[in-house]
Amino acid sequence: MAVFGCGGVGDAAIAGARLAGASTVIAVDIDDQKLAWAKDFGATHTVNSAKEDAVEAIKAATGGNGADVCIEAIGLPQTYRQAFEARDLAGTVVLVGVPRPDMTIELPFIEVFGRGGALKSSWYGDCLPSRDFPMLIDLYLQGRLDLDRFVSETIDLDQVEEAFHKMERGEVLRSVVVL
Ligand SMILES: NC(=O)c1ccc[n+]([C@@H]2O[C@H](COP(=O)([O-])OP(=O)(O)OC[C@H]3O[C@@H](n4cnc5c(N)ncnc54)[C@H](O)[C@@H]3O)[C@@H](O)[C@H]2O)c1
Repeated sequence: MAVFGCGGVGDAAIAGARLAGASTVIAVDIDDQKLAWAKDFGATHTVNSAKEDAVEAIKAATGGNGADVCIEAIGLPQTYRQAFEARDLAGTVVLVGVPRPDMTIELPFIEVFGRGGALKSSWYGDCLPSRDFPMLIDLYLQGRLDLDRFVSETIDLDQVEEAFHKMERGEVLRSVVVL
């Protein structure tokens, strides 16, 4: 599995991949700190796509085939294209990142056909809170889902503005308001 974008959302996908038994989990980001945190969540490989070609690196880590599942957790056309190209034959691309309304993508149409598989999106992991939160809490209590690792700091409500700036600077994964 390959995950593009290792913020809170991408790291959750990495944690989920390990829980689901993925043996190779490749984290892609342009920020080395985010890649270090992605390793803590269970990434087996990291790729800084500002410094190396993400598609080539993913193919190299998967015997030349590409990843069975590529998760785009940024919401950019260029990283969606990378996810599309880094996918194994008949693999799945999941768009989790939310694009801006004015964004468009262009893909080689014959490749959309010829590569088969699935191109899909996911809203909140198709989660149903009443059904899924108890399961996630059980995983946390069993020590199998490290939710604490997502919380870089706890803050008061009046620190929210600064917390957004810290997030933009890549200094925190998540700042959680405690009331
Ligand atoms: N589908 C859903 O249900 C759902 C739910 C919540 C958030 N989202 C979306 O998921 C996306 C990620 O959210 P987040 O909170 O993790 O954001 P974030 O800002 O914490 O993380 C984004 C990561 O992408 C990296 N990045 C930026 N440009 C990149 C590039 N060109 N190549 C590689 N990496 C790049 C950043 O360094 C950062 O680590 C957003 O688009 C958000 O709106 C979707």
